[in-house]
Amino acid sequence: MARIISTPGSESDGFTDQMSVPKAIGNIMIRPTRNTLSENIRTQSVDLLNKHLAAVIDLQSQAKQAHWNVQGPNFIAIHNLFDTVSGEAGNYADLIAERTRGLGGIAEGTIHLAVRRSFLVPYGLDISDEQEHVCGISAALAAFGQSVREASDQSADFGDTSTADLFTEISRGIDHQLWLVESHAEPGYITPHRLSRFRS
Ligand SMILES: [Fe+2]
Repeated sequence: MARIISTPGSESDGFTDQMSVPKAIGNIMIRPTRNTLSENIRTQSVDLLNKHLAAVIDLQSQAKQAHWNVQGPNFIAIHNLFDTVSGEAGNYADLIAERTRGLGGIAEGTIHLAVRRSFLVPYGLDISDEQEHVCGISAALAAFGQSVREASDQSADFGDTSTADLFTEISRGIDHQLWLVESHAEPGYITPHRLSRFRS
């Protein structure tokens, strides 16, 4: 017996073009999709994803700031490392934004929104010494990594294990970048006092 495959707009799955129009749930725009996660779960995931999209765009930019302005005897190694960190943050932004789209949300990834929403501490424009940059980027990676771990637990709790898995993947990548950056710190340089500058 031939299988009937539904196509968008066909009567067999009840999905019409009109249903693909996004609607507002609170302040989050969400469109219907055949994804079987409930609208309530998808809305919570989109909210969490966009929060981290803003922060990871900030992280990407902070690492570029360090890449451009670093000075010191290990210039080439650290200059290149910060460029790698920025590139990885850009990859995570892409993963987060496209997961948002897959759940029927709108990826809110403009610089304008990142400035308003990022939970990272603003990066100091007066930093030039390579060890201070290592301290600053370490602090930003650690803060973002902490929040991503919490987001993974949260999304698993409200029922979106795939988003939880994405956050876990990003968390693992951030931990790796943090290891690379911290490995460039002079022994004893990163102290609670020095880190306090980069904490909110
Ligand atoms: Fe460059």
